Amino acid sequence: MKPIAIKPNVSFVGAVDWDRRLFDNLVPLPDGTSYNAYLIKGSEKTALIDTVDFHMSEVLFDYLKDVDRIDYVIANHGEQDHSGTLPKVLEKYPEAKVYLTPKAKGIFMDLLHIPEEKFVTVKDGETLSLGDKTLQFIHAPWVHWPETMFTYLREDKVLFSGDFLGSHIATNELFVKDEGRVYEAAKRYYSEIMAPFAGQIKKNLERIKDLELDIVAPTHGQLYDRPEFIIDAYHHWVYDDPINLVLIPYISMHGSTKVMVDHLVDALTERGVTASLFNLSAGVVDVGKLAMALMDAATVVIGTPTVLLGPHPNVVYGAYLVNVLKPKVKFLSVIGSYGWGTKAVDIIKGLLTNLGRAEILDPVICKGLPRAEDLKAIEALAETIYQKHKESGFV
Ligand code: FEO
Repeated sequence: MKPIAIKPNVSFVGAVDWDRRLFDNLVPLPDGTSYNAYLIKGSEKTALIDTVDFHMSEVLFDYLKDVDRIDYVIANHGEQDHSGTLPKVLEKYPEAKVYLTPKAKGIFMDLLHIPEEKFVTVKDGETLSLGDKTLQFIHAPWVHWPETMFTYLREDKVLFSGDFLGSHIATNELFVKDEGRVYEAAKRYYSEIMAPFAGQIKKNLERIKDLELDIVAPTHGQLYDRPEFIIDAYHHWVYDDPINLVLIPYISMHGSTKVMVDHLVDALTERGVTASLFNLSAGVVDVGKLAMALMDAATVVIGTPTVLLGPHPNVVYGAYLVNVLKPKVKFLSVIGSYGWGTKAVDIIKGLLTNLGRAEILDPVICKGLPRAEDLKAIEALAETIYQKHKESGFV
């Protein structure tokens, strides 16, 4: 394969992973993904921006088969899906030095056992000349690791943004054509990966707001030749209020909790409040869809039966995810059932420490199959949610 030009002497040399269906053994990839790397040939020096996941090294080397020399490898991010092939690149191109942030150096040495003398650390704003092309490094920590940076190619107005602004899509269309499809995939990606770092995302959006951009070239998915599309989307995701939506992650063992969940959905529906149910049974829940709903939801109601006095273990997993993704959720509650005793509510509350600003609405926990008074309490919870959403301007 020949490198695919995105600008004169600037080419895509990445790998499209059509078959991958799971990332980090956690995140579903319904549309596969790609590991984007880029080759920039200046009049004097040649730079490679990032590499590819180790299991697809041969794709990168096929693109590079006619490249005799690489002077610089720019390492925007240390995660192995982009750095995994770096040791092999340095074997093939022993003259190459690796440019990265000071924070990244230790991470690369720990993860890849690359000797220290291979690295050159760069300051924020520092530039590197390739002759007729200039790279400018922009420190952009926490997208989504602490060492990350962007690289801006001044003359061609291309921003190599690392994971930032990316999406998990496998395609041979290099640039975005179907913005609707990419919006969904990029939102899924943002919700799973970037949302916990919303404060830092705001700062990093500020860092790039004055750059002239022809192309945004992330490390996953398609490139943007209309960069405002994805930058505007990020602004919405990071700044917008939550919406009139109740996320209900739940599980039921013998049907009691399910009766309560269904009654809550009916009561919310009657009040014009949207509900989104996620059954946490093994192999059923799509973590990406849950993360997307979580990003939008004004309220989360967790539904659980009691197992050995605590919540069902799958609910513990769901509550842990809700907590680490640090959503903008304003209201929280728990519904569920128990047989002879329970500490489920307290344990769940203890798992949601990142959501300290959310208001806890009275839980509804019933003994055995819900009775009429339990269902009335569920209706009261739905009414409270509706009123809270209304007062907050979400309805
Ligand atoms: Fe795509 Fe954070 O690696």
